[in-house]
Amino acid sequence: MNLATPAAARADSPFDLGREEPFARWSEAKLEAYPAGLGELVVEVGDPRRLTAAEYAAIAARLRRANMALYVGPADPDRAIPIELARRFGAVRLDRNWLSDPDGLTSLTVAAGGARSGYIPYTDRAIQWHTDGYYNAADRQIRALLLHCVAPAASGGENRLLDHEIAYLLLRREDPDYIRVLSAPDALTIPPGTEAGGRARPARTGPVFRVDPATGTLHMRYTARRHNAVWKDDPATQAAARRLREILDDPATGVLRGRLEPGMGLISNNVLHDRAAFADGPEGVRLLYRARFYDRLQTP
Ligand SMILES: [Fe+2]
Repeated sequence: MNLATPAAARADSPFDLGREEPFARWSEAKLEAYPAGLGELVVEVGDPRRLTAAEYAAIAARLRRANMALYVGPADPDRAIPIELARRFGAVRLDRNWLSDPDGLTSLTVAAGGARSGYIPYTDRAIQWHTDGYYNAADRQIRALLLHCVAPAASGGENRLLDHEIAYLLLRREDPDYIRVLSAPDALTIPPGTEAGGRARPARTGPVFRVDPATGTLHMRYTARRHNAVWKDDPATQAAARRLREILDDPATGVLRGRLEPGMGLISNNVLHDRAAFADGPEGVRLLYRARFYDRLQTP
């Protein structure tokens, strides 16, 4: 079957809970194509700002297989890299949050003080499994996430990665009710916090799994945090959240693991990921650029 065709463009969407057969066919093809290790997702590039046709095709193929690819290019701190790379795949609407730099990128590095130091991404602590922007409003969901590594930590800072479609697939194979309850509009609530300009952000309630009606693609909104995340108070939702968490912590489920080195980056449709704790050394600090887009990456 052709994984390249957006699901909604087909009458037989695999994400239609009412029909088992398209899901079964899609699952089989998905698992067969899914990489056994991170190495299968790596594409060497000469200049990520100007991909050759072959490099572009290689990245697109991996995005279709696993919703993510890793590029390896020359060490280069140019902030244009994630922007230009995303643009090549049709993602242009940057999510600017109040901690972004003026160009819309976020510099992920340990903040010694100021507003950023109160947020986990700007510390050296571990970050649990999540997709980006789970606290965003429904109309500002993050569909593409890029990371570009300028400097790694002296130790630690690895990421685990899992295509969110695999999480969906494994849950649904076990029990379609998991998907049903996690697709409910009140499945997961993020309590109030702080947003752009330091204004109070209201609570955000929404589904974990959502199928974009325009493209038929699957979006996932998730955090494994126990604090600042409130699951719907019913046994079925609680059980589904528990099972999802077990799947993410089970190395047998296709979880990939690796560390970005200088010149490397992740280009993804906001797949599930986490970050290990890390330590900076005397020779420098870990620095990654992060770019988030409302657009999903387009692959031919
Ligand atoms: Fe993240």
